[in-house]
Amino acid sequence: MEKNAKIYVAGHRGMVGSAIVRALEKQGYTNIITRTHKELDLTRQDAVEEFFAKEKPEYVFLAAAKVGGIEANQSALADFMYENMILEMNVIHAAWKNGCKKLEFLGSSCIYPRMAPQPMKESCLLTSELEKTNEAYALAKISGLKYCEFLNKQYGTDYISVMPTNLYGPNDNYHPTHSHVLPAMLRRFHEAKEAGLEKVTCWGDGSPLREFLYVDDLADMCVFLMNNYSGDETVNAGTGKELTIKELAETIARVVGYEGEIEWDTSKPNGTPRKLLDVSKAAALGWTYKTELEDGIRLAYDDFLNNPMRAER
Ligand SMILES: NC(=O)c1ccc[n+]([C@@H]2O[C@H](COP(=O)([O-])OP(=O)(O)OC[C@H]3O[C@@H](n4cnc5c(N)ncnc54)[C@H](OP(=O)(O)O)[C@@H]3O)[C@@H](O)[C@H]2O)c1
Repeated sequence: MEKNAKIYVAGHRGMVGSAIVRALEKQGYTNIITRTHKELDLTRQDAVEEFFAKEKPEYVFLAAAKVGGIEANQSALADFMYENMILEMNVIHAAWKNGCKKLEFLGSSCIYPRMAPQPMKESCLLTSELEKTNEAYALAKISGLKYCEFLNKQYGTDYISVMPTNLYGPNDNYHPTHSHVLPAMLRRFHEAKEAGLEKVTCWGDGSPLREFLYVDDLADMCVFLMNNYSGDETVNAGTGKELTIKELAETIARVVGYEGEIEWDTSKPNGTPRKLLDVSKAAALGWTYKTELEDGIRLAYDDFLNNPMRAER
């Protein structure tokens, strides 16, 4: 990308989109265009076509999506499928129709099969059944990825996709029921400390293994891929390192300064035992993460404390 190229970041108020804008600005890109959800509802085809026809962005980062944790996904399977599928098709199609040189589509590691061999390689896509709790979201994301691949095959475009592991960092969603595990725990431990609670109860037995990537590292990788990668197959974005949920809870408690007891409610489900991405493809392209988990959680906690609106998102 030339430094003055016209770049549209879709979803720039979200955690990933805002990090991509930060990364682009830091690297000296000067012509970034954005629209809020209110200004441009990406599920409205006419509005999206009109926007692309007028603005004709040369590059697009597609980081807008209807996103949520297990509870939000499970309770609104139809909405997650419809909104994400329509939004992706509208944006990718309008980008192609209006001559966008390169588009990068943001997906999620939940696109991989429930029983995929660990660590999960990009090549395990569509080799067996998906996890039921977020099947709708995963199917929408797989469709977006495949639409990019099919445009490349049929029309010779250069549209790529990236599949991040669990993310966290500035601008995360701390909603009490609709957030992901790390921000949800950060909020609960913070509130427990403030309220002087002696005990915090977490779901399951704490044994599942998970991987987390700091969102500014992901944004750095997104810009890197836009400049250095072309191909139909997606690229995993992660650290390649895992820890147990129990270790995660202890790390968050340490960062927040919560000194009470952490209790595990084993009547609640654990979720899948292990979820780790194989990050060798990104490494071979020359990219690796920078921020270690505890440092990243400190940065995220600072953002949480200094931007009280985050907690109400
Ligand atoms: N968070 C994670 O752990 C994680 C992990 C892996 C992959 N990802 C991927 O990264 C991408 C972004 O996720 P995120 O965590 O940044 O989510 P987020 O913080 O919720 O941001 C999503 C953004 O998209 C916007 N948006 C949603 N529907 C829209 C619509 N119809 N029209 C216009 N804008 C719309 C939202 O605006 P409003 O808030 O105004 O609706 C919001 O600014 C997603 O594709 C997700 O799958 C995230």
